[in-house]
Amino acid sequence: AAAQKQGYDWFMRKEIFEQPKAVADTLLGRLNERCELVLDELRISPETLRRINKIVIIASGTSFYSGLVAKYAIEHWTRIPCEVELASEFRYRDPIIDPMTLVVTISQSGETADTLMAIRHAREQHAKVIAICNTNGATIPRESDAVIYTHAGPEIGVASTKGFTTQLIACYLLGLYLAQVRGMKYGDEIDALLRELERMPAAIQHMLDQQQQVLDLAREFVDSPSVLFLGRHVGYPVALEGALKLKELAYIHAEGFAAGELKHGPIALINDGLPVFVVVPPRGRDQLRDKVISNISEVRARGAKTIVLGEADDAEARAASEVYIELPKVSTLLQPLVSIIPLQLFACELATVKGHDVDQPRNLAKSVTVE
Ligand code: G6P
Repeated sequence: AAAQKQGYDWFMRKEIFEQPKAVADTLLGRLNERCELVLDELRISPETLRRINKIVIIASGTSFYSGLVAKYAIEHWTRIPCEVELASEFRYRDPIIDPMTLVVTISQSGETADTLMAIRHAREQHAKVIAICNTNGATIPRESDAVIYTHAGPEIGVASTKGFTTQLIACYLLGLYLAQVRGMKYGDEIDALLRELERMPAAIQHMLDQQQQVLDLAREFVDSPSVLFLGRHVGYPVALEGALKLKELAYIHAEGFAAGELKHGPIALINDGLPVFVVVPPRGRDQLRDKVISNISEVRARGAKTIVLGEADDAEARAASEVYIELPKVSTLLQPLVSIIPLQLFACELATVKGHDVDQPRNLAKSVTVE
């Protein structure tokens, strides 16, 4: 096992560092020389995809959070209404599904019981199902109409990392592909985004190269009983995922909130010295960004210790925060690919310092194949 870890202490840490390659591999071969999308495992005809009038994304755990990010991107690019639902909820409901519904299921393992039962439930009602999956030939892709494989390579750490970022890539590609086949008038935007996706491995690498700051932070906060994460727009699912990583690995109370909901409850939790991570949207989304910067001041005024993730050249966000983690300049919708990296490293390091088994957290399984 030591040899397989290639010098890393944990598979999880190795997998965090594999993300530039995993993302590059997932993009590989998906774009032709004219920068058009090629999704060859998509066994659903373009005519069918043109008729789809609703998308329902179904997943569990971390995969559910990549689905939450996907909703923002897919609705923006395609104008198709898109819902995201936990598989464990969907399967016991009476959802409104018909042959014009496209179900997108996201599962790293392709074996999660709830997710599998949810797609069976959807297919009984004649929905078309596309699986986003990291495991060739797993049950979920076998039972789907089409599959987009993420090429992350085997993920061994129980807490998903490269699974998550490659799922995001697959979701972006699917959204852009749907926009393309449906003839959306964002031609230039699609081209620019495709080119930007190709630059994401380097952007992720840039985040990894800055790891020392995050590792030091993890040591500083090792005794914190609780940590909060705030984000808005696609930063909200990032906050949820950052909190999940900390629960799974460090066994400390952690919660992610939509920053806009602060005054509806979470602000009551703020006390002296509570670490609060805040993800600031890129400049250019100033309406959102200004509000998040106000949130930083609000929690700081109540004693929180703010750790802010924002663009390197965002002087206002930096000035508002105590600790500032610099993000490279990327489009708003793609920001989760870079903002999640420090949160993964933070959870991995904090659990390591606590002496926990990072690869095999207590009570958790890599794939939940029973209810
Ligand atoms: C378990 C794993 C998580 C994973 C979730 C969904 O809870 O510990 O890391 O996100 O299952 O798994 P899937 O394979 O369906 O993505």
